[in-house]
Amino acid sequence: MAQKPATTLEDTFAYRFGKAPAAHGPSAGDDTLAYLAGRRSIRAYQKRPVDAALIETLAAAALCAPTKSDLQQTDIVIIEDAAARNGINALFPNAAWIATAPAFLIFCGNNRRQRQIHQWRDRPFANDHLDAFFNASVDAAIVLATFVVAAERAGLGCCPISAVRNHAARVSDMLDLPDHVFPVAGLTLGWPADKGTISLRLPLQVTVHKDRFSEDGIRQNIDAYDARRAEAQPYTAPAGATPWAWSEVKTRQYEKPERADFGAFIRAKGFRLD
Ligand SMILES: Cc1cc2nc3c(=O)[nH]c(=O)nc-3n(C[C@H](O)[C@H](O)[C@H](O)COP(=O)(O)O)c2cc1C
Repeated sequence: MAQKPATTLEDTFAYRFGKAPAAHGPSAGDDTLAYLAGRRSIRAYQKRPVDAALIETLAAAALCAPTKSDLQQTDIVIIEDAAARNGINALFPNAAWIATAPAFLIFCGNNRRQRQIHQWRDRPFANDHLDAFFNASVDAAIVLATFVVAAERAGLGCCPISAVRNHAARVSDMLDLPDHVFPVAGLTLGWPADKGTISLRLPLQVTVHKDRFSEDGIRQNIDAYDARRAEAQPYTAPAGATPWAWSEVKTRQYEKPERADFGAFIRAKGFRLD
């Protein structure tokens, strides 16, 4: 099943998930569903810069996303200064595509402002527990996702970079992040130099539930997904090995510790995670 340009929304969903959801056409003149069905991260960019005013506008659009209790706990750091960008690039010595991305942003969770207004109003902050960290993280992730949509709809390509958290303390120092402000993810941004690839998703039977959570048929569904992905979007395996399936790659990734120091970093930022 080589990647082919899908002609209809149903075709694109069918390619992405193996089976399309119940047919429901978009409203007349609205291509939002078609865009989402076909969207993809982009890791190759033209040398052309992205106008600073456009980036700021996209940040504004992203910050219109829903925010937990209207707390507005996301900050976006746009890396403009060349020296600062070099510092970020140095964190990824093996990822030239990150270093050459025309723009780089870092989305941060910010629970500091909430604590500040408690201080200024002389009121106790009675929610110093895991939820304080979680709410700010979720808000930042929603703003990140909204930025991606806004950017892609403007014709830009981008790719979130959670690898900034491999170096959370260094990134925090570089950006002067105070207590209770932490990096959630970076984002590369630029005008696309290629079309990217539609990345297949798990079947909807696995990820969409009706009324209650169910794992009926999960092993068979994941086996089928592995087979579909190996054919349409194979991962590269060492020479001579059978191409790796999605679950093989993901278990190889997560059999090694990754960011085991992140909890300590977040605690050092002043969060209680209990
Ligand atoms: C929070 C988050 C962090 C990510 N971090 C990285 C990263 O560090 N490096 C990378 O190459 N891609 C990263 N990605 C991109 C994912 O690999 C990508 O979204 C996924 O493979 C699906 O591909 P698609 O976005 O083209 O559908 C990240 C995505 C998200 C949402």
